[in-house]
Amino acid sequence: MAVIAVYSVKGGVGKSTLAAALAWSSASVSRRRTLLWDLDVQGAAAFLLGHDRPRGQRAASVFTRDTDPAGLVIHTRWDRLDLLPADDSLREVDTLFARLGKRRRLGKLTDALAKDYERIVLDCPPVLNELSNQVIRAADLVVVPLPPSPLSRRALEAIRDELSRNHPKHPPILPVLSMVDMRRRLHRETVDEMQGWPVVPMSTHIEQMAARREPVGAFAPSTPAAQAMARVWTGIERKLCE
Ligand SMILES: Nc1ncnc2c1ncn2[C@@H]1O[C@H](COP(=O)(O)OP(=O)(O)O)[C@@H](O)[C@H]1O
Ligand SMILES: [Mg+2]
Repeated sequence: MAVIAVYSVKGGVGKSTLAAALAWSSASVSRRRTLLWDLDVQGAAAFLLGHDRPRGQRAASVFTRDTDPAGLVIHTRWDRLDLLPADDSLREVDTLFARLGKRRRLGKLTDALAKDYERIVLDCPPVLNELSNQVIRAADLVVVPLPPSPLSRRALEAIRDELSRNHPKHPPILPVLSMVDMRRRLHRETVDEMQGWPVVPMSTHIEQMAARREPVGAFAPSTPAAQAMARVWTGIERKLCE
């Protein structure tokens, strides 16, 4: 079992879109039993898989062990793809962790979920707090979407520095250039400079995920956008094997 965190300190960089698309690829392309766990109170991951956010307040209670995560899991309409949705209770999750004082509570839960899943994809909120610390301790790989810019490398280094401060032995970080528009010179130059970084194109098909509420691979599998997503996923699988 491997835990893949899609994480950045920034919002609006394509985390939830990437997390939903990658989880779908894991389940449908790699045929792995996959859980998409939405840790962001905004609930975008569930939305992108066509599910409404639960009205209850139970998402955070898995951390106090009052609720078994399996009891909150939603089976999506795609084989092997399950969803652990966010709800309003996650607003208070940071103070909850502070109160609990357990450093690996999320990691213990993902360890226990290994009996049901081969891949767990975490859609993370853009925070640097005890929740993100828990995520880093639980993750086998941290995927960081970065909009292309001459500053991409510095943005990645800033995130690496932040993680290293609290986690000297943090898991490997995989930068992914997100929302790349090859018509733009700066984007092309960034792709050239960051040789080897996976690329997600700026694409109406990817944007439409939020309107159709399905992963791009499910409704437009032969598009360059879906194929790029599949390549990002294959790169992740390769990295996990290293
Ligand atoms: N590759 C892409 N091409 C076009 N639009 C995208 C792409 N990735 C994300 N978006 C759009 O950008 C916005 C922010 O994406 P989102 O995944 O919610 O970011 P985050 O989770 O980092 O806040 C959404 O409207 C989404 O549809
Ligand atoms: Mg998000």
